Amino acid sequence: MEETRILGIETSCDETAASVVENGRHVLSNEVASQADTHAQFGGVFPEVASRMHIETIYPIVAGALSKAHVGLDSIDAIAVTRGPGLAGSLVVGLNMAKGLAIGSGLPLLGINHLEAHLYSIWLVEDEAEPDFPMLCLIVSGGHTELVLMRDHLTYERLGGTLDDAAGEAFDKVARLLGLAYPGGPAIQEAAESGDPDAFPFPRAWLEGTWDFSFSGLKTAVLREVRSRQPDLEAGVETPRPGLPISDLAASFQEAVADVLVGKTLSAADAFGASEILVAGGVSANRSLRDTFQSKANIPVRTPPLELCTDNAAMIAAVGHWRYLSGQRDALDIDVLPTWPLTGSHSIFR
Ligand code: KG4
Ligand code: ZN
Repeated sequence: MEETRILGIETSCDETAASVVENGRHVLSNEVASQADTHAQFGGVFPEVASRMHIETIYPIVAGALSKAHVGLDSIDAIAVTRGPGLAGSLVVGLNMAKGLAIGSGLPLLGINHLEAHLYSIWLVEDEAEPDFPMLCLIVSGGHTELVLMRDHLTYERLGGTLDDAAGEAFDKVARLLGLAYPGGPAIQEAAESGDPDAFPFPRAWLEGTWDFSFSGLKTAVLREVRSRQPDLEAGVETPRPGLPISDLAASFQEAVADVLVGKTLSAADAFGASEILVAGGVSANRSLRDTFQSKANIPVRTPPLELCTDNAAMIAAVGHWRYLSGQRDALDIDVLPTWPLTGSHSIFR
């Protein structure tokens, strides 16, 4: 197979990132500037602020990724950039940077789907053999919860997804209710460590007969428990909550999320005869979710290394490798696609 060296750029939400990856698997550099500390004061991502911060950070991040990889644009084959889904004002910063570099260097421009990239973060574990098709993929991030069947490279059948909150969004909203900091996922995981997952019998929305998910009932159940102890609660205002059993609430919530995500993914893997399960996206960093998958699955379950679960550009460059080989070349006037779904069969590798 042809050798490639791809520059990846990612600015879909609140991470400004650039990376150089060889052959879709070998990471030469992976630069990430997170804005999480800034957004923490707003309790979530403030889109206008995110866009401005990307503008300030994008140039040094891209320059840093090239210099840490010890390469110039003259030894890069293509520039892969997140085109969507994500925040329009954030996406446009990375896309314009990529267009400028493509115009200046004459290199091909490849617009990449961010959800697809989360899946390809799994290929960046170079010391493991490539996963076997067909794979049942669970993408769990701040904006998405998607169950996808992958029969070949770059080929996706969407089975279902969340009807309301994404899994990461549920973590972030429940963290706010409990007075924990943004981003909520890591904060809930930490609080849950000393809690009892059976303390509160929170509801699980199985939505039988579909491959869909719903987390709003669970979120409301946590809110009800909090309100019963703290009737004056003002959602979103972070104050210490003396007397609230935060660890037990966090552990019980986390287990309810993991139960449903794992249960439905394993059923789908069984129904579609998958050889392996891939779990990717920010929430795939969750230890309880990883442990539940490993203890319940009877086929291999792959997750990215922790530093590649949340947004990064190495995963964008990894998809860039496969899309470059498939012949994708995008025009320099492509626009961002803030709601771009992951569907369709584009593979030439069949
Ligand atoms: O993939 P990602 O970085 O950004 C999106 O594409 O949305 O995912 C961010 C989400 C946030 O909602 C964050 O709370 C969640 O991933 N997250 C976690 C953990 N680390 C990040 N959720 C649960 N447990 C974690 N350890
Ligand atoms: Zn993401």
